[in-house]
Amino acid sequence: MLLAQSTLAQSRINIVPLPVSVTEHSGSFLLSPTTRLVVKDASLQKEAAYFNDYLQQFYGFTLQTSTETGSGSIVLGEGKTKLEGDEAYHLEVSRKGVKIGGRTSTGVFYALQSLIQLLPVPDSGATLSALSIPVVSIEDAPRFAYRGLHLDVGRHFFNAAFVKKFIDLMAHYKYNTFHWHLTEDQGWRIEIKRYPLLTQVGSVRKETMIGKNFNPYKGDGTPYGGFYTQDEIRDVVQYALARHITIIPEIEMPGHSLAALTAYPYLGCTGGPYEVGTKWGVFDDVYCAGNDSVFTFVENVLDEVMDLFPSKYIHIGGDECPKTRWKTCPKCQKRIHDLGLKDEEQLQSYFIQRIEKYVNSKGRSIIGWDEILEGGLSPNATVMSWRGEEGGIAAAQQHHNVIMTPGKWTYLDHYQADPSTEPLAIGGFLPVDTVYSYNPYPAALASTEAHYILGAQGNVWTEYMATTDYVEYMVYPRALALAEVVWTPASLRGYPGFLVRNRAQQGKLLKLWHVNYAPHIFQ
Ligand code: ACM
Ligand code: ZN
Repeated sequence: MLLAQSTLAQSRINIVPLPVSVTEHSGSFLLSPTTRLVVKDASLQKEAAYFNDYLQQFYGFTLQTSTETGSGSIVLGEGKTKLEGDEAYHLEVSRKGVKIGGRTSTGVFYALQSLIQLLPVPDSGATLSALSIPVVSIEDAPRFAYRGLHLDVGRHFFNAAFVKKFIDLMAHYKYNTFHWHLTEDQGWRIEIKRYPLLTQVGSVRKETMIGKNFNPYKGDGTPYGGFYTQDEIRDVVQYALARHITIIPEIEMPGHSLAALTAYPYLGCTGGPYEVGTKWGVFDDVYCAGNDSVFTFVENVLDEVMDLFPSKYIHIGGDECPKTRWKTCPKCQKRIHDLGLKDEEQLQSYFIQRIEKYVNSKGRSIIGWDEILEGGLSPNATVMSWRGEEGGIAAAQQHHNVIMTPGKWTYLDHYQADPSTEPLAIGGFLPVDTVYSYNPYPAALASTEAHYILGAQGNVWTEYMATTDYVEYMVYPRALALAEVVWTPASLRGYPGFLVRNRAQQGKLLKLWHVNYAPHIFQ
């Protein structure tokens, strides 16, 4: 292992996630302000502009673009990509120039991300006017089609500028899906024109619990709020699109909806009054499943959401919905009786299936947390397996698509080191090497059903993350480990090599990008 490490340490190629095939040679290409950026195909203009923006931001110059190939240039859209798939690319650096090709513009974008990771990182304050890039030939394509990170902006709100930075970082590590958790008990964060009180009332809580003072409860006495306007959301969606990232919005139902109930008390079983949550956990007050005007409300909200987000998938939550209120609500009980349902689990299933029909009628599909399996799965739903691998296994066995987000390997809100040495977190223990060891294909799943596993996602629940610095600390570098899990063939991965690449290059890049990453694996 020591030998392997020292061999790896000599490499000048320290890309994360590790590409499928890397052939390194001696020598370098010097990228300077006189290098031409050749765009062979007009459809790659956006990728060229992205690369120039990056150079401007971190090196202080841009390249002149051209359609004519000459020596000493970086050519976008040249050469054959050997690997299969829309996201495949090749990147060839010679002493004379760089050739980049992909099966689609997404592949070209990923080639540029690999190229970005090959650029020397200036020491802080220094400027580099000639960038030495090692001669190398790379062929690359992802292992999984779905490579996601999630961000909870309900418990704590992070503004659009931070969300863009979060998306920028995801793009550098070839993630392609951002799951934006927009509604919670403690705050509704998306402007809905038809229901202005959702943000006027539902985006603000009167205070926030201090630490873990649940009982006796202790609050900080300071109102807390925030939300995104629809204009901001449209802007972020476009920003993500330019980085080949799809945003999946999540509108939680029927649970985790106390903020919505506070804004419009008729949505709950008791009619309220309600109060936006000030502490963490699971609340008994949820949408009433027996009241048709609740469905009208949800459908109207989803209309605006689907107008803002072009994603194929809309996440409808479905997790952690207590049945306490439903059990004593005459409307809910009447629904159970009228439809001949067995119990409240089936009532939840009715709720989700009714919403699924609506979403499907608009040409979209739902994703739900694995509780949507209980009481019967909606016909076309994709399941996000979070309580373990079991939900994912059960869904795949029923021939439903699955995204794996089991707590044991992908919950980035868990501690990453000895809790006594770390800032307060929700609990758990998930060091970088455990994330790295994850296999999204559950061992118990038959190989004939494995293709239902679309990929995996890291979840970032923010109860205890009040600042952007702390979010970055929890996400990085663990998100690099997960990026390699979902991108790199399992047979090529190795933790020692991952550490070497992090120490040689990724730590410098994270510094360059002003990321407040956790230092443990760099020490
Ligand atoms: C979840 O962590 N409640 C999906
Ligand atoms: Zn009810």
